[in-house]
Amino acid sequence: MDSKRLRIAMQKSGRLSQDSQELLKSCGFKINLREDRLIAHVENMPIDILRVRDDDIPGLVMDKVVDLGIVGENVLEETMLERQSQGLPTSYKKLKDLDYGGCRLSLAIPREEEWTGVAALQGKKIATTYPHLLKRFLAEQGVTFKPVLLTGSVEVAPRAGLAEAICDLVSSGATLEANGLKEVQVIYRSKASLIQADTELYPEKQKLVDRLMPRLEGMLQARE
Ligand code: PRP
Ligand code: ZN
Ligand code: MG
Repeated sequence: MDSKRLRIAMQKSGRLSQDSQELLKSCGFKINLREDRLIAHVENMPIDILRVRDDDIPGLVMDKVVDLGIVGENVLEETMLERQSQGLPTSYKKLKDLDYGGCRLSLAIPREEEWTGVAALQGKKIATTYPHLLKRFLAEQGVTFKPVLLTGSVEVAPRAGLAEAICDLVSSGATLEANGLKEVQVIYRSKASLIQADTELYPEKQKLVDRLMPRLEGMLQARE
């Protein structure tokens, strides 16, 4: 890869990918995002788009492998806590809050069970992809729990007997509904955001970012 080209990481497929692609296109990027291409060149600007798993984007920015990243704040915050616990670098610069990708990280339990509050989760098994955010929230309430780590299909855990409750992202609520679960407590509200590596960019790259930001801000304002 050419290090003079600005590198932007975005989710390959998932809740942020469609809106992120549209945002970049509306900023004037000419991109041909073929399904199988993990690196896409922007045809009319010196920019490469890296298409990766959402969970990997904050780390790529914090390790300065890419210059910019479009991430969900939930994944960003979870990665920060994870990396702090490992002594890895966690710095980045927030460039812009975006207006899509809204969702919440919530606790959910089987629909037929009565909810009496988070204290009832003391010592219970909770399935989640976000153990650090969950731990931080429950610790503030004086509750300890046994995390069951799943990177997907978290909603099957209660019926499969893996855990008593789950903590996962909810947007429409359809996934919880389909799995006989009910949302009982929001623990974190998230949106998409544009972040930059905490390092000095090549002057050409920085100029490009400075030229793109007003366009992006204009786009966001126009659709407010
Ligand atoms: C989230 C979450 C649920 C689903 C909830 O997954 O894990 O499966 O979305 O959405 P709903 O309330 O609208 O049904 P996401 O799309 O973020 O994918 P990922 O877990 O693979 O990153
Ligand atoms: Zn993910
Ligand atoms: Mg999911």
